[in-house]
Amino acid sequence: MVAARITVNGKEEPIAPVAPHTTVLDFLRERGLTGTKEGCAEGECGACSVLVARPGVNKPTDWVAVNACLVPVAALDGQEVVTSEGLATAAEPGTPAVLHPVQEEMAVRGGSQCGYCTPGFVCSMAAEYYRPDRCAHADPGAGAADGTDAEHGPNGFDLHALSGNLCRCTGYRPIRDAAFAVGAPTDDDPLARRREQAPPAPVATEYTQDDRVFLRKDTLAETLRLLRERPDAVVVAGSTDWGVEVNIRSRRADCVVAVDRLPELRALRVESDRIEIGAALTLTEIERRLDGTVPLLAELFPQFASRLIRNGATLGGNLGTGSPIGDSPPVLLALEASVVLADADGEREVPLADYFTGYRRSVRRPGELIRAVRVPLPLSPVTAFHKIAKRRFDDISSVAVAFALDIEEGTVRKARIGLGGVAATPVRALATEAALEGRPWSAATAEAAARVLRGEGTPMDDHRASSLYRSAMLGQSLLKLYAQTTEAVPS
Ligand SMILES: Cc1cc2nc3c(=O)[nH]c(=O)nc-3n(C[C@H](O)[C@H](O)[C@H](O)COP(=O)(O)OP(=O)(O)OC[C@H]3O[C@@H](n4cnc5c(N)ncnc54)[C@H](O)[C@@H]3O)c2cc1C
Ligand code: FES
Ligand code: FES
Repeated sequence: MVAARITVNGKEEPIAPVAPHTTVLDFLRERGLTGTKEGCAEGECGACSVLVARPGVNKPTDWVAVNACLVPVAALDGQEVVTSEGLATAAEPGTPAVLHPVQEEMAVRGGSQCGYCTPGFVCSMAAEYYRPDRCAHADPGAGAADGTDAEHGPNGFDLHALSGNLCRCTGYRPIRDAAFAVGAPTDDDPLARRREQAPPAPVATEYTQDDRVFLRKDTLAETLRLLRERPDAVVVAGSTDWGVEVNIRSRRADCVVAVDRLPELRALRVESDRIEIGAALTLTEIERRLDGTVPLLAELFPQFASRLIRNGATLGGNLGTGSPIGDSPPVLLALEASVVLADADGEREVPLADYFTGYRRSVRRPGELIRAVRVPLPLSPVTAFHKIAKRRFDDISSVAVAFALDIEEGTVRKARIGLGGVAATPVRALATEAALEGRPWSAATAEAAARVLRGEGTPMDDHRASSLYRSAMLGQSLLKLYAQTTEAVPS
């Protein structure tokens, strides 16, 4: 097997001799690329943002910004990375460094004071600068009435691209000014041109240091055989959970097995009776590829962490943690989704409602992987996802509620409600569903069902919220749904 290598700012380098758990952040800084900063080491601040060449949604390659503090560098064997230093010189290779257009705008519009957060902002901004469909939505003459707003610039820039970047001193207005001022990449921009070629293919990796190993196989079958041989292995996809375990809780694994590039886990198929979503597609890829086809998922994604996290996070990882406060389970429960589990002997399909068995426990056996999530069609027409958290974006849920209702001629024919944050596992609100089904969709029904919903689960007191608050929010959530579906639009 070829020694693990990574291309950073156009230069290929060996990954050895660092330990297998070494993050991309530490690897880069160790090599003098200190533009990439550590602010939190847990995916919260974006100071470590770098660009990775990934399979594109609208072009062969997308430049995708990720949190370098969470990703093991061994996971980028054979891949291409660009840091803030690479942006500065990428515009004119071979000539003295000139600022990249996003750096130029940040400089001239006062988007940087102490500068600690700036390289991370610049990388997230560059990813949005190169998003192929950004300019399709650009209208330099547009005003608020033309579809631009505080979060979307006239240049098509979606400010949510920066939702994972924090700045302690500049204030966000000048940063927004810079984001909304960038133009379109020129024809000779090397990173724009790079999008037209295929991204680096995933490579099989066996990276060993100090008796610890990071492994990536080419196929699902090889991976499943390996997991049978190594039941102690830790499976890693986007590493947005595992990276926090490594950095903050000092977890180390003798054997890490990467599944994020397995083709069998990265397909998205829309069929007549179901949609199958590969467990290793990132949330950003699912969001862009489904493009609103599943409105409940479309409502979930913007509320799930930040763009930086969604660029790595997968559904397999969200279900794999078994966390009771993961945001996808309530939505997938309301959608009556099932999970396709694969091991070396074959596959089985388990309804998500039967998947969780206890706090961070599931029916998934050692050696089994989540291959895909299946969402049955047709979808219920009335859906909503209410995430109650302290911040609007980039926060963990105190309570999450997802609704999927069939309402025909004013009567609730079918109700599916998924809850997070109110029990040891994500749960269906079965009593509330029964209180709705067969009843008229009226204020009286909503109020009666809201009382039932307040009593679902066994909410706890913790640092995020009290049990009373959580119960109250459940009831409010149903009343809000009723208001959302019945409120007259003012003329
Ligand atoms: C700053 C920050 C904000 C976050 N915000 C949110 C949020 O708003 N909502 C939310 O729900 N979560 C949030 N998370 C948690 C995390 O991003 C999600 O759980 C994410 O979906 C994990 O996906 P991943 O691919 O990165 O998982 P990884 O970290 O790679 O893996 C997580 C776990 O799942 C297992 N696993 C991964 N893939 C598979 C598979 N295919 N089969 C079986 N097991 C598998 C791994 O073994 C591991 O135990 C946040 C995390 C951070 C750091
Ligand atoms: S250092 Fe804060 S997100 Fe990586
Ligand atoms: S410029 Fe100081 S933290 Fe952003």
